[in-house]
Amino acid sequence: MRLGIISALHEEQQGLVEAMEGPYKLTHGMREYFVGRLWEIDAVCVLSRIGKVAAALTTATLVEKFGVTHILFTGVAGAGDASVRVGDIVVAESLVQHDMDASPLFPRYEVPLTGLTHFLSDHHMALQLADAAHRFLEDDFALAVDPGERAVFALSGPRLHRGLIASADQFVSDKDRLDALNGALPGLLAVEMEGAAVAQACFELGIPFGVIRTISDNANEHAATDFMRFVKSVAARYAFHIVRQFCLG
Ligand code: ADE
Repeated sequence: MRLGIISALHEEQQGLVEAMEGPYKLTHGMREYFVGRLWEIDAVCVLSRIGKVAAALTTATLVEKFGVTHILFTGVAGAGDASVRVGDIVVAESLVQHDMDASPLFPRYEVPLTGLTHFLSDHHMALQLADAAHRFLEDDFALAVDPGERAVFALSGPRLHRGLIASADQFVSDKDRLDALNGALPGLLAVEMEGAAVAQACFELGIPFGVIRTISDNANEHAATDFMRFVKSVAARYAFHIVRQFCLG
């Protein structure tokens, strides 16, 4: 197995490259790929940058140029439902591109010529990610996130969810927009800007993948402020410990 680990932002991957054994850096297509061993796993870490095209391009490069056999995307997301709170963790079971609309030629949300609206993540990787997130919450959370930070975000007993993530080239910061999405996409748990693009690329290339997201904001009018604050403080520690637990398996 060779694992490609993608995040959109530096803060979502901080610490991972430092934790790599004997990494070397290769720059390709405006991205830096770090190749090495991460807790005994052959891994390639890269920042995709933000959005669906950036994520799809990075995924294809990881597969075609770096020969990865599995892909893991880690990062933050907006809550897609009132039951999901800041600090909770969402493991994707399926992903949809919520800005895809080729109707009336194709049904709403269907990616033309794939016949699919929802792309399934790899069942085994989703299970492993849920286990890793569970171990993070049980074993690492209390030490990794100090009480002051927990108070800022009202992180009382973060929970793990598994289900639907929706992606688009849109930062959702409007309660009405979110309510409309939630109504149109039953079971929606989180909104972000890359996961479903990675999902489509992996589906078309036949590569198993998983997506795990920590909730940074409520995708409402406060989303931008909440997102910035979360990314600048605890996001990196969530990501680092979750990936570590995943690799230690
Ligand atoms: N990533 C984190 N928060 C988000 C939001 N509200 N919309 C889209 N992507 C996000």
